[in-house]
Amino acid sequence: MDAIEVIVAKRDGGELTAAQIDWVIDAYVRGEVADEQMSALAMAILLNGMNRREIAGWTQAMIRSGERMDWSALDRPTADKHSTGGVGDKITLPLAPLVAACGAYVPQLSGRGLGHTGGTLDKLESIPGWRASLSNEEMLGVLRAAGAVVCAAGSGLAPADKKLYALRDVTGTVESIPLIASSIMSKKIAEGTGSLVLDVKVGSGAFMKTPERARELAETMVALGTDAGVRTVALLTAMDRPLGRAVGNALEVEESVEVLAGGGPSDVVELTVRLAREMLEAAGVAGKDPADALRDGSAMDAWRRMIAAQGGDPDGLLPRAAESMTVEAPGSGVLVRLDAYAVGLAAWRLGAGRARKEDPVSAGAGITLHAKPGDLVRAGQPLLTLHADETGRFERALEALRGGYEVGPAGGEPLPLVIDRITAGA
Ligand code: URA
Repeated sequence: MDAIEVIVAKRDGGELTAAQIDWVIDAYVRGEVADEQMSALAMAILLNGMNRREIAGWTQAMIRSGERMDWSALDRPTADKHSTGGVGDKITLPLAPLVAACGAYVPQLSGRGLGHTGGTLDKLESIPGWRASLSNEEMLGVLRAAGAVVCAAGSGLAPADKKLYALRDVTGTVESIPLIASSIMSKKIAEGTGSLVLDVKVGSGAFMKTPERARELAETMVALGTDAGVRTVALLTAMDRPLGRAVGNALEVEESVEVLAGGGPSDVVELTVRLAREMLEAAGVAGKDPADALRDGSAMDAWRRMIAAQGGDPDGLLPRAAESMTVEAPGSGVLVRLDAYAVGLAAWRLGAGRARKEDPVSAGAGITLHAKPGDLVRAGQPLLTLHADETGRFERALEALRGGYEVGPAGGEPLPLVIDRITAGA
């Protein structure tokens, strides 16, 4: 077999055979298929798509390129959640210990932020001492001690995806539903979780800008998980505005701890509890209701154990940015719109995110929201506080926010927080 034959088949709108898919992924990892050939194939896939059989074969080939983790030594079911990424999306932080407190194990491999969306590992690394890199034995130890572990994926997990994702990032081929679905699901299936809840974000701050595209991605991923024996369900959730009132690494940890203490913004609490119930149902664990575990302190206890087991100090002081500035409401009325993408871009420019994989992030940088869409505001009242390590960052952040919020007479309805639920065969 050779790479040109595979590229031409897809370029001309054909279906790839199982043998072609297996060969091209394996040969790419071995270096026999060159980056420029894989780029051409990725572009042909982006333009011409893949059917369900091809996507399933592509996903399985990427799983086979590395190790597959196994949690069968544990005495309770495993459940995980994956979010396609958004602005202010810190849900994993309260969710993982919450689900652990309700009786399932949560082995979660997470990523770092790129562009305007934040990454769970960057957020947790703002906790003094906390370590993202664990061996498989250490992961098992943290799971046994705390019921939940959130850490970086090792280099042995789906190496084909690692190589391909880096290539897609620089060749304009990220936004392909078959490639996104197979990339996410190869890692989640290789991670070995028994059940999975997908939080597919919809709106300006998300990969998928419309409910139709998000639904197609969700259905594809649910089918892949189900076919691989992972009980999988997806929620489509709103990302037209930021989630919660904090955007930025340490700021989001602080807000997550508020949720674990029984407080926190209502949208973060609602989505955390809803996803926890979905995870417990998918894992077949009945018993404690997540809302009770937030109230009675058991989720907070699991959080403290989880952070401490990864070297972190749950009572450690979180870093704060040296500088801040306030953006005031331009008039009186209803905050009709607060655009997730504008806020995410501004937080990124303040230092909360990175432009390249190797860049550091600022733990303290970010944005505090003093009002959410639908709230009444008065002219001159604080709308947002920007936080950065240097004042020089404020101007470009303000530029990103220009046109990103609007105060007026009562406006249209925002997207509901949970837009839809997708299950296998539905
Ligand atoms: N996240 C992934 O892991 N892969 C993609 O392709 C997109 C988002």
